[in-house]
Amino acid sequence: MDAFVIQGGTRLRGEVTISGAKNAALPIMAACLLTQQECLIRNVPDLADVRHLSSLLENLGAKVWRDKQKTLHIQVQDESHCLADYETVRRMRASICVLGPMLARRHRAEVSMPGGCAIGDRPINLHLRGLAALGAKLDLEGGNILADGSCLEGTEIFLGGPFGSTVLGTANVMSAAVLAKGKTIIEYAACEPEIVDLGNFLNAMGAKISGHGTPRITIKGVESLGAADYTVIPDRIEAGTFLIAGAITNGELILKNCRTEHLMALLDCLHKIGVDVDRQDGTIRVSSARRLNPVDITTQPYPGFPTDLQAQCMTLLCLADGNSMITEKIFPDRFMHTAELGRMGAQLRKEGPTVLVQGVRELIGAPVMASDLRASAALVLAGMVAKGETTVLRVYHIDRGYEHIEEKLQRVGAKITRVDQPQV
Ligand code: EPZ
Repeated sequence: MDAFVIQGGTRLRGEVTISGAKNAALPIMAACLLTQQECLIRNVPDLADVRHLSSLLENLGAKVWRDKQKTLHIQVQDESHCLADYETVRRMRASICVLGPMLARRHRAEVSMPGGCAIGDRPINLHLRGLAALGAKLDLEGGNILADGSCLEGTEIFLGGPFGSTVLGTANVMSAAVLAKGKTIIEYAACEPEIVDLGNFLNAMGAKISGHGTPRITIKGVESLGAADYTVIPDRIEAGTFLIAGAITNGELILKNCRTEHLMALLDCLHKIGVDVDRQDGTIRVSSARRLNPVDITTQPYPGFPTDLQAQCMTLLCLADGNSMITEKIFPDRFMHTAELGRMGAQLRKEGPTVLVQGVRELIGAPVMASDLRASAALVLAGMVAKGETTVLRVYHIDRGYEHIEEKLQRVGAKITRVDQPQV
């Protein structure tokens, strides 16, 4: 099981090119189930999660391959298999995003309930409520959802839940509604850029979607969908992670291929912390050479502060000049990284969905255990600024969502190496 060995203390300097967005690519790949024509998807990152979904799509009768330009080709050839089993969904919850497209196109689907994961419960009641509103018949058998979508009809659906909107719930309902009879309105839809990307991809296939990116999405059902050639947006969470890397190491990073408008909440937060950020079109320059100010952060649905950058920002605030409060409104238990940061000398106190971060002068390198994708990134950031050596164990978590992260960090000066048998 791979680990990263990191020597702390280097200031990162240079250029980083941001890869395509994992959370846009996954539902777009699933949406290829809506046609038997060949779809081309460009800028898809080379990640464990992408490979995992590719093999699920192959089990569902699609041919999936990358050409020499790394463009992903997906073409469904056989629609008889409709099972996404527990083993598949357990390993990657986002596999649930095949449910809506399969229901719309094949009128049936059998998908395992995802269960929970390290960041908390991952219910899909809102997904199921939205699909049932479209007329899907849903039964639960042996932990699998048996779905019959033989006559999906457009309707008005309120998709809000106790934690606000649902990203993949919106993706599933939108992907099901595109082939339903009549008009569907999704109220309290997720506004994330990844949902906008999915809506644009579906429209490129011939769907009639408007309002994606706002809380009210309108979908006019069509008879069928066809091929599309589409480029996925850059990954705002990877970009945010590297912005924090430049800030925490007192370095100077230039991020290429960014959509700065997708990062406004983080940029606002970094400004308050005292980090210098300069934006020019698709480039962001970040530098920080002075003490960091403490700030209070509350994670919210987009355009609020993203929960996927909470752990990384906590690491930065561990070194601020004072106390910060971080409140998780999306996944209240998403704090597996706090205990590991504590092993490195961070002063963190969890009270329910809030963590009090008392700034310390320095972090001390130590062996630490990754628990989930973004917690792993937080530990890598801590290792790069800690005194001495840090070993981050179980980095398969980070490989799920960051394309060749250690190579990208090495190119801007980080002393980080991947080892297969860590000595800890
Ligand atoms: C997506 O997950 C992302 N994953 C997550 O990123 C991200 O953290 C999350 O959105 C929030 O932004 C992908 O896009 C593949 P939700 P998703 O449904 O869609 C509750 C990463 O690190 N909820 O928006 O599964 C839920 O429990 C990953 O890249 C219900 O109650 O998240 C949570 O509290 C981690 N019922 C909140 O809503 C439902 O039916 C938001 O969840 C669905 C969700």
